[in-house]
Amino acid sequence: MSHPPEPFRIKVVEPIRLIAPEAREAALKEAGYNLFALKAEDIFIDLLTDSGTGAMSHDQWAALMRGDESYAGARSYHRLKAAVEDIFGFKYFVPTHQGRAAENILAACLVRPGTYVPSNMHFDTTDANIRARGGRPTNLVIDEAFDPTNPHPFKGNMDIHKLQAFIEKVGVEKIPFGMMTVTNNAGGGQPVSMENLRAVAETYHAYGIPFFIDAARYAENCYFIKLREPGYEHKSVLEIAREMFALADGMTMSAKKDAIVNIGGLLCMNDENLYQQVRNELILREGFPTYGGLAGRDLDALAVGLYEGLDENYLAYRLAQTAYLAERLNQNGIPTIQPPGGHAVYLDARAVLPHIPQHEFPGQALTVELYREGGIRGVEIGSVMFAYPDPDTGEMIFPKLELVRLAIPRRTYTQSHLDYVAECAGRIKKRAESVRGYRLTYAPELLRHFTARFEPFQ
Ligand code: F0G
Repeated sequence: MSHPPEPFRIKVVEPIRLIAPEAREAALKEAGYNLFALKAEDIFIDLLTDSGTGAMSHDQWAALMRGDESYAGARSYHRLKAAVEDIFGFKYFVPTHQGRAAENILAACLVRPGTYVPSNMHFDTTDANIRARGGRPTNLVIDEAFDPTNPHPFKGNMDIHKLQAFIEKVGVEKIPFGMMTVTNNAGGGQPVSMENLRAVAETYHAYGIPFFIDAARYAENCYFIKLREPGYEHKSVLEIAREMFALADGMTMSAKKDAIVNIGGLLCMNDENLYQQVRNELILREGFPTYGGLAGRDLDALAVGLYEGLDENYLAYRLAQTAYLAERLNQNGIPTIQPPGGHAVYLDARAVLPHIPQHEFPGQALTVELYREGGIRGVEIGSVMFAYPDPDTGEMIFPKLELVRLAIPRRTYTQSHLDYVAECAGRIKKRAESVRGYRLTYAPELLRHFTARFEPFQ
């Protein structure tokens, strides 16, 4: 399969270079074999994240020049407000500097110690912001999400029975709000169906629980609905988005993904009382409600990017690009989570390196090899990130999957870059038996993947 040609041509270029194998080896050693510690200039293809790494269009760059930097009531704010109201339809909104700032403010207003916030799966910053207020994030995604070979078209769906049982068990008064993440990043970038969103909204509302959507990748989710859900093939993605958000009482959004800007976020809601509280929190932590921690020019780039992220030619290319990379990798003997998600491909590191036990970090080993082979940076999502000692026995508990995520920045790399990535991975597969595991030489207690250091076994 080839994928649709990139629906843009290139006007500005940013040179990238593949440094020599010996220089890559030295860089790895200096970084303690942790790719977070590399210099970006030493990376050839950077697939660490699709967040804030997309390429803005000529219209977005032109919009930057219209930025109105007035402290209050800027024109830029009003242009963003018009776009947000048109697409999402909530009564109130504030801009924030990124997604986690919106999550922090929502959690500050609503989460109290001992309360619970259910979702299909919370992204780690959402999870952490709920915990930081003493709350308990709870993931209730369908079981199919944990089987990497299951081709379910909407593996991000919530298990409605689990949700009902959960609400009955902990009690409505302990659930200040419920969420859904579209697409489900922590579960492989998998979409949620409109049918499931409707059932989730009905369940929350039957109990009087406000429903918030984590909308970071909502446009990709809406395009999956158009492609996969009967009855939506003739609707526009904008119509599907409006239908989706009409089900909810509010949303948090990292605009660094589907709104294709380098920085920005949104917090939207219908409840006026909540909005008053949110504004006060925002003024305390982010800025005045008409700029929320962003420059006026950022608001303008966002107002334009929101529509570009909904463009169906772009979305067709975008989702096909991810599927293309997955297919090329599979052809080269690298298994990936099926079906491919919207923004990233997840390599099954245990299947590629079956001789490396989990406590020697097969995902980390594969991440290092991708850099060694071709200057490619992905991110380990396995035991480095998620293995932790049991608080009672001290015994290590390992995650179910050892993955490497290759996230694709929007409008940034071409099909030939992806061919190159698949070829490098194929070469690693051929010499997989000689790849060794790693031991930690330094690791902080929490979020250790960012700063850990490693040493290879000989
Ligand atoms: N929600 C989801 C689903 C996300 O994927 C992210 C960020 C956030 C919230 C937080 O947004 O970074 O703007 O504060 N995901 C990035 C990633 C970091 O690489 O997947 P933020």
